Amino acid sequence: MTAEQLISFARGAPSLDIVDVEGLKAAAVRAFDADPAGVTAYGTSVGYPPLRKWIAEKHGVEADQVLVTNGSLQADAFLFDHLVRRGDAVVVERPTYDRTLLNLQRMGGEIHGVGIEPDGLDTAELRKLLESGVRPRLAHVIPNYQNPAGVTLSLDKRRELLDLAAEYGFTIFEDDPYADIRFRGEPLPSMLSMDTRGVVVHASSFTKTVCPGVRVGYLVGPASLIADIAKSATSLYISPGMVAQAIVHQFCVSGDIQRSIATVSSALGERAGVLAESLRRHLPEVTFVEPDGGYFLWVEFPDDVDVDRLAPAAAERGVAVVKGSDFMVDGGRHALRLAFSAVTADRIDEGVRRLSEAVAAVRG
Ligand SMILES: Cc1ncc(COP(=O)(O)O)c(C=O)c1O
Repeated sequence: MTAEQLISFARGAPSLDIVDVEGLKAAAVRAFDADPAGVTAYGTSVGYPPLRKWIAEKHGVEADQVLVTNGSLQADAFLFDHLVRRGDAVVVERPTYDRTLLNLQRMGGEIHGVGIEPDGLDTAELRKLLESGVRPRLAHVIPNYQNPAGVTLSLDKRRELLDLAAEYGFTIFEDDPYADIRFRGEPLPSMLSMDTRGVVVHASSFTKTVCPGVRVGYLVGPASLIADIAKSATSLYISPGMVAQAIVHQFCVSGDIQRSIATVSSALGERAGVLAESLRRHLPEVTFVEPDGGYFLWVEFPDDVDVDRLAPAAAERGVAVVKGSDFMVDGGRHALRLAFSAVTADRIDEGVRRLSEAVAAVRG
């Protein structure tokens, strides 16, 4: 199967046609012209100061509450290293982002998966877990257009979660790289912006709005926590990549980022719509929640479709998917995550048609 024939719903990355390559090239030239010393020096572990300031202003916090990292997965890993010790209880969504789940497992965290509903984390289930005596160190929540389920945490549930965190003494880790990729509806306030009790640490990224290759993400939290993490970051790598951060800074201050967000959101809104239509046409027996933004759609199949058999059958037919079971400790045997970010609209229907052939083959 050549790369051209393969239709990949596997990776949460944008296709090249929606990356502003020319804008990034121009931003790079401006970055070197404007600040040759800052761009080419080591810098410090907190990141490129002008970008740090831009991020602080975006979130209405002080610059010393921001650490700019090499992608937000690094921000996630820094926070986990800082807060979680072997045996600590941690709450994750079920399903959740596979890489953070693996990292928490590797660190020896005692993982408690809490279910997801069409309006986000099942806070009633979380409350029961807390009432049963579990005392988590942190709850990892992806509030907007969740990876992998595509759902968004409602405003009421955001409030409830903040109350639970304050009452039971855990940190909400708000992992929010998709917030700006919205196709419909009004944006909801981040829990970071709603927090009056210092219970939220927030991470986000330029991966989904600019491109993954820049590897620029960030962590926002209490200044003392950021200072502690910055110390560990210095020992680890002296400083993150200043060239990439300076380019992103120029891309942001010029307003190019707003155009990029508009391009990505409009293309992905179209792709999500085509994907939903194709699923209804070729696979009427599946269920899914149509996302209002982001990169992913989560598909539930009937119980006689096992994704351990479906995923290879789909691969044989030139469609890459990720099994639901990769996103939780147990379960997910009848679900797939479909990323519509990297497949152009004209290829999606063919991808779903091939997937429906694979479903028929594993059922037959
Ligand atoms: C929820 C979530 N957090 C973190 C990341 C990591 O992103 P980055 O490319 O910024 O490291 C991703 C990427 O898919 C993600 O979905």
